[in-house]
Amino acid sequence: MDARLLTTAAEKAAGDALIIPVFQGQKTIPGEVSALDRKLKGAISDLLKDGEFHGRLMEVAFVHNVANASSKWTVLVGVGKEDSFDLVRFRNALHAAARTLRKRGHQQVAVVVQKALAAKASPADLARAATEGVALGNFEIGSLKSRHEDSTTQIDALSIIGLDGQKAAADAVKDGVALAEATNQIRNWINAPANTFTPSIFVDKVKAAVKGRDLSLEVLEIDDMKKLKMGALLAVAKGSDEPAKMIVLRYNHGRKGGPMLALVGKGITFDSGGISIKPALNMEMMKSDMGGGAAVVGAMLAIAELKPKINVIGVVPTTENMPSGHAIKPGDVVTGSGGKTIEIINTDAEGRLILSDGITYAIKQGATHIVDIATLTGSIMRTLGPVAMGAFGNDPALMALIKRSAELAGERVWELPLYADYDGLMDSQVADLRNSSVQWAGATTAAIFLREFVDGRPWVHLDIAGSAWQNASELKTIPKGPTGSGVRVMAHLAELLANA
Ligand code: BES
Ligand code: ZN
Ligand code: MN
Repeated sequence: MDARLLTTAAEKAAGDALIIPVFQGQKTIPGEVSALDRKLKGAISDLLKDGEFHGRLMEVAFVHNVANASSKWTVLVGVGKEDSFDLVRFRNALHAAARTLRKRGHQQVAVVVQKALAAKASPADLARAATEGVALGNFEIGSLKSRHEDSTTQIDALSIIGLDGQKAAADAVKDGVALAEATNQIRNWINAPANTFTPSIFVDKVKAAVKGRDLSLEVLEIDDMKKLKMGALLAVAKGSDEPAKMIVLRYNHGRKGGPMLALVGKGITFDSGGISIKPALNMEMMKSDMGGGAAVVGAMLAIAELKPKINVIGVVPTTENMPSGHAIKPGDVVTGSGGKTIEIINTDAEGRLILSDGITYAIKQGATHIVDIATLTGSIMRTLGPVAMGAFGNDPALMALIKRSAELAGERVWELPLYADYDGLMDSQVADLRNSSVQWAGATTAAIFLREFVDGRPWVHLDIAGSAWQNASELKTIPKGPTGSGVRVMAHLAELLANA
C-alpha cells in the first residue's frame, strides 16, 4: 500500500472514497469537509444532524458523491465517544471501515483528520494510527472453501488529509505501512490449519518471507538440538511425527558491544496438550498456538524495514505437542540446554518448555535484553480477556520501554506483578523446577518458570493467549480473527532500545 500526507483540500481529493472519522454524537460538520458538504448540498451535515448516523465505534455511513465532487464516495466512520477515544480504538474503527471499503472494490482512499482529533494525539501518532488502521483492513482471512468468492481487492493508495507539513507525521506514515504489512503477512499463518502449517512449513514460509530482506536465517534441526542438549524442546517434540525446528533470524545493525535484543516466540503449530490431553471443546483453536512465534517473525520483518541501529535475534522453537507412544509423560524429568532439570507435571504446559531452550539459546548467542512472547496460558485470557497482552518482567526500565512501545503500536499491554511471595512456586521435589504448580495465578506461575532461564538479564514476558485471536461475538468494536498481536510492540521496542 502507498500512503502519504496530502495537502489537497478534502473536496479536491480524487479517489474512490473519502473517509471522515466522526465522534459519537458529533453534530457539527468538521471544517475540513464543509466545502465538500456544500458541494454535496449538505448531504454530510444532514446525516450528522438527523441522527441517522450516530458515530458509534465502527459505524459506517455512505454518501454517494454527485458528479461535481472529486471522490466517488464520502464515508463517515464512527470513532465512538470523544471521552473514550484512544488510538487503539481509532485504529480498530479504520480497520473495519477499510475492510468494508475494500470489499466494495474501493482501492484509493483518503482519510480526513479533523481538528477535533488533533486535540487527542500528536500528528505523528494520528498519522501512524490512520495508516495502520487502513493497512490492517487490507488483511483477508484465508479460506479453503472450494467455492468461495475471495475478495482480492486491496486498498493500494491512502492519502491522509489534515496533517500535512509535519516531518514526524510523514515518517510515521512510512513506518506505519511497514508495521501493518509485516503484521498482515503473519496473520494468516496463525489462521492456517495445523495440517497445512507444520514446523517444516513454518520454516518454508519464513524462508520465503525473508528473501531479499535485510535478515539472515538459520534453522536448527533435531540433530542440532541434540548437540546443544535442548532437552526441554526435544521433550515436547518427541510425541510428534513432524520434526521440530528452531528458526533463528538475525538483524545486525548495532554497534559493537551495544545491546542485543532477543525476541523469543512460542511456535507450537498444534497444541493437543499431549498425554495431559485437552478437552475437545475449542481444541481446533490450538492451531494458533504458534502466534508468538509468528509475531517474532513479523517483528523481524518490520525491523528489517525500519532499520534501527541495534542487533536483534529472533528465536522461534517450533513443534507440535502431541500424545503418542513416544510422548513425554507426567512425572518425566528432562534437562534443558542450560543444565536445569525440569519435572514434567503437565504435558500441556509445553510452551514454557520450548521457550526455556529458546531463551537459553538466545543468551548463548549474546542476548543482553530478552522479550519472549507466547500464547501461554488460559489464565491470562480469563484475567484480561481478548483485548490485551499480559506483561511480566524483572526490569522496570525494559518494562517502561515495552509500555511506551505499546502506546506507539496501538496495542494494549497490561503489566502484572511477580510478587516475591510467589517465589518458589515452581520448585520441584525431584528436579530444579516443575513445569506446572498450583491451580491459581496460572499466568504468573508460567512467568516465574521462564524467569529462571533469563540469567538475570532484563526480560519481559508477553502472554498473548487472549490477544492473538479475537472472536468474542459480544465485542462489536474489535475486528475478528488473528490479530498479529505483539508484532508492532516488539518492532517499536527495537527502535526505542536502539535510541536508549
Ligand atoms: N496453548 C495453551 C494456552 C492457551 C489456552 C492458549 C487458550 C490460547 C487459548 C497452553 O499451552 C496451555 O495449555 N496452558 C495451560 C497450562 C497449564 C497446564 C499449567 C493452561 O493455561 O491451562
Ligand atoms: Zn500451548
Ligand atoms: Mn498447552
